[in-house]
Amino acid sequence: MSDAVLSQFTQAAEEKEIDTSKKLKVGIIGTGWIAGAHCESYLQMPDVEIVAGADLIPGKAEKFFKKYGLENARCYPDHKSMLENEELDAVSICTYNATHAECTIDALLKGVPVLLEKPMCVTTDEAVEIMKAEKASGKILSIGFQPRMDENMKMIKKIVESGTLGKIYYIQTGGGRRRGIPNSTFIEKKTAGIGAMGDIGCYSMDMVLNAIGYPKPLTVTGYTSNFFGTNPKYNNPADAARFDVEDFAAAFVRLEGDIILDFRISWAMHVNTPGDTIIMGTEGALRIPSTDCWNGTVGGPMTLYHDVAGEQCETIIPIVPNKDDKGLFYHKVRSFLDAVKNNGEAPVPTSQILYNQAIIDGIAKSAELGREIEIHIPSID
Ligand SMILES: NC(=O)c1ccc[n+]([C@@H]2O[C@H](COP(=O)([O-])OP(=O)(O)OC[C@H]3O[C@@H](n4cnc5c(N)ncnc54)[C@H](O)[C@@H]3O)[C@@H](O)[C@H]2O)c1
Repeated sequence: MSDAVLSQFTQAAEEKEIDTSKKLKVGIIGTGWIAGAHCESYLQMPDVEIVAGADLIPGKAEKFFKKYGLENARCYPDHKSMLENEELDAVSICTYNATHAECTIDALLKGVPVLLEKPMCVTTDEAVEIMKAEKASGKILSIGFQPRMDENMKMIKKIVESGTLGKIYYIQTGGGRRRGIPNSTFIEKKTAGIGAMGDIGCYSMDMVLNAIGYPKPLTVTGYTSNFFGTNPKYNNPADAARFDVEDFAAAFVRLEGDIILDFRISWAMHVNTPGDTIIMGTEGALRIPSTDCWNGTVGGPMTLYHDVAGEQCETIIPIVPNKDDKGLFYHKVRSFLDAVKNNGEAPVPTSQILYNQAIIDGIAKSAELGREIEIHIPSID
């Protein structure tokens, strides 16, 4: 039987599993760029009805829904009025980083489960407030790290968990682009809060920290700069004039379990990459080729370095194809909805992403102070 015939059977089986007896009423907060990916995923799901959306920019939500043929979706001028007037089963929060915390807390306290775009928020304190609201509401909150759905990302975790690498003691991660500064709401503190760290840095951190079980971060020496973003030679002059976030960050982080995380991320620099991701252990090491942006999969086949019968060997881990062609975004949204329907666990829980956020926050604070700092995470209780 050919693969094509087989895959038809697989897909039919998956569709059957979705219970359509009750349609989930979904709302979208922030109808900008990434909201389109959420909308397209929801539209593929037979158990979802997109009923409402909100955006601060007048007419933006209306235009957004028209594009998707959803003229009946009700539009609101902000998230609060939408939450007041709608009975929602779930909400996607697709606003810029600076309003993640406010929108998420308000939705949870209204009793609505939330799929929140990454990064979780801007500061550790905000993350803690979000988690308090999550706890008080008892509702599901999942953070939008779609690379978790990628088979190659899963392979990294499988390799670490298999024990092949032994005890992990050092990780180098990060990456970025020689030139690739975004614009729009990504480059000002008032909307983005943080720059390259929140845009792409959080992904590379999630890749490795998820693989090793998210140990708690203890101390950090961080550095940030924005030599490129603010320079009209390298950035559009109008954008350079308003640019006030970091376009580069580097850090040395101590994690619980005597593990060092050596991190660097860049939107622009005079080199093609600040390096591959490397996970070093007492029995082996894994090299994960860098990519422009870690929002999907790895940059190429990974290499496992290990000794076999006393000889130094290298094993190439071929790229693992994903199980279907629905895309990581579809699976990110689907896994969230399944958790909502089955009262299950959040696919990407805040208990993990809190540490991702605490490292970013620690880097920003350490950079400002110009010295190493201890990472303090306030209690959720
Ligand atoms: N997962 C991914 O692959 C991915 C890719 C791109 C962006 N993102 C994340 O998605 C988020 C949004 O990015 P974007 O490019 O869509 O930004 P964007 O600026 O295009 O859209 C954000 C929208 O949110 C609206 N908004 C802000 N606060 C609001 C509020 N309180 N109520 C209603 N609307 C509000 C803004 O008016 C704006 O239209 C960012 O956090 C970004 O990191 C994720």
